[in-house]
Amino acid sequence: MQFSQTHLLGIEPLSPAEITEVLDLAGQYVDLNRSEHKHADALAGLTQINMFFESSTRTQASFELAGKRLGADVLNMAMQASSVKKGETLIDTALTLNAMHPDLLVVRHPQSGAVDLLAQKVNCAVLNAGDGRHEHPTQALLDALTIRRARGRLHRLSIAICGDIAHSRVARSNILLLHKMENRIRLIGPPTLMPAGISDFGVEVFDDMAEGLKGVDVVMMLRLQKERMDGGFIPSEREYYFRYGLDAEKLAHARPDAIVMHPGPMNRGVEIDGEIADDINRSVIQDQVEMGVAVRMAAMDLLARGLRARRHATAGAMA
Ligand code: NCD
Repeated sequence: MQFSQTHLLGIEPLSPAEITEVLDLAGQYVDLNRSEHKHADALAGLTQINMFFESSTRTQASFELAGKRLGADVLNMAMQASSVKKGETLIDTALTLNAMHPDLLVVRHPQSGAVDLLAQKVNCAVLNAGDGRHEHPTQALLDALTIRRARGRLHRLSIAICGDIAHSRVARSNILLLHKMENRIRLIGPPTLMPAGISDFGVEVFDDMAEGLKGVDVVMMLRLQKERMDGGFIPSEREYYFRYGLDAEKLAHARPDAIVMHPGPMNRGVEIDGEIADDINRSVIQDQVEMGVAVRMAAMDLLARGLRARRHATAGAMA
């Protein structure tokens, strides 16, 4: 086994071999999920608690389904964003939950770094389901699996990530992963939505879609993360769609077989034309959702194996 992480807090600490191991195992779970009997027992006897301090549709549902399909007891805590008081409150919540002996804790939080902090206070495996604009590792892994299946490989591809890069944890985790797997990454968006110092990440930056999309294999669109903007980053949504929204005309600059991706939730007519999003010959957006369940099953399975091995070793040392 290559995967030697205690937690899945981000893509940053993962090696290419660990990424490949998650994707290979997820591939097996895709087959299980397509079969009639969707149950395996990798997490039997374990307790999984989902704590979402920020709203989520796909991510929370797929973590819940992933845990249930692998036999875990799954608890969804309803954490309203309004009740988040940061710092001590988060740690107190973590300690309370820790006393219930969870084995897997899945956490989404509006503050970057909050999930790492929480992981230091508990003695179970923690999975980051998105922290502020920092990381969203399972999203990058499910995107990677989608690309690998659609394009037949996950290296030496030319991949464009377009739109609100500055506020996006999805972009950040994807850049880290795709860079580790030796792909060419192009970032396209208005200069106001590009993070400072981004070219240090080994990416090419464009502010023109026609130029940036030229010959790419993959077009990944991002939502304008308005909840993280405090002021005018774009003149208007209409103007934004005109310059950066993906429509047939702009997509024509990419390779004829380029795939179109979006992590959801989508704003049709803002960052993407509805017809492109629904075009089954180009869009793999629904595949991304399907891969999401399988990748989360694989990630929790691998973390649980490590958890069991460590507990076994501790029990052996104490005997
Ligand atoms: C993303 C997120 O929450 O970071 N959505 C998701 O997990 N599928 C992207 C977004 O909110 O735009």
